Amino acid sequence: MTQLYREERLTWQTIDYSPAVPDSFLVPEHHWPGIRNESLPMPVRIRLNHFASYFMCEMFIHFEQSIIDYMLIHKKDILQYISEVQLGRFVREERDHIAAFETLARKIRPDLYVDRPRFLVPTLLDRVVLNRTPLACFFMMAALFEEMTLYVYPVMLENLEESWGPYLDVMRLHALEERGHIGLDRIIVDGRLASHGRIRTRAGMLWLLPLVAYSDRRIVSAWRKGVEYFARTEQLTSAQESFISSKGLSRSDVDGMRSFVKKNLEKPVPGNGLLCFALSRMTG
Ligand SMILES: [Fe+2]
Ligand SMILES: [Fe+2]
Repeated sequence: MTQLYREERLTWQTIDYSPAVPDSFLVPEHHWPGIRNESLPMPVRIRLNHFASYFMCEMFIHFEQSIIDYMLIHKKDILQYISEVQLGRFVREERDHIAAFETLARKIRPDLYVDRPRFLVPTLLDRVVLNRTPLACFFMMAALFEEMTLYVYPVMLENLEESWGPYLDVMRLHALEERGHIGLDRIIVDGRLASHGRIRTRAGMLWLLPLVAYSDRRIVSAWRKGVEYFARTEQLTSAQESFISSKGLSRSDVDGMRSFVKKNLEKPVPGNGLLCFALSRMTG
């Protein structure tokens, strides 16, 4: 945690992963209000927090790998809107992020993360859906996901007592670089809009809501699979298991969705009104 106050610039190479994983919260418990259960014994609440922190790493690895795969498959198309240098940097940064989340996952649950995610395992259908998603639609979705990752760091700052140093540093640096990615996502979407026109772009955006729903379903089912495992190893009652099965939105999910909607209100993209409406309903 001392790194937070260091003046020198934090880089992926200077993050100190050596602090041992503590027997306390890694990410503030209030980050996941849906699974906060004060009737559970404190050691179980802490292990659940470790498990949720671990799962967040799997989730980020999954999405960032999808972004890399999509960018490499659709490279020629994307290069109409951003330069080769920008694309190369974007991909390189996502690879750095994946490496950092893998390091955290291995430190937090070495029994679960051996060399790949345990619960959110990519499927053939994921690949088909990804490859076929229209460009503007994909980058709107990427922007939404990236927005949702930005706010883990500020939530951690709200309670440093419950924030583990290496996790905090990774989230801080990740949020910094993701801001640049969100800017590029929008440049690609705007470029597509200019070259394909409003009607074609709007037609491509018809995929957006189903794509977000598909991704959400993948996360929910992976979390449930994880909870089954957690409940078995912790010998939870079925009531306790079903309580934590529905994780709901995290604080960073809510803040990211709100930010996404706000940006779209300021500069709307044809065809994403329905998604913004749905997100506004979900975040109150
Ligand atoms: Fe990333
Ligand atoms: Fe990103």
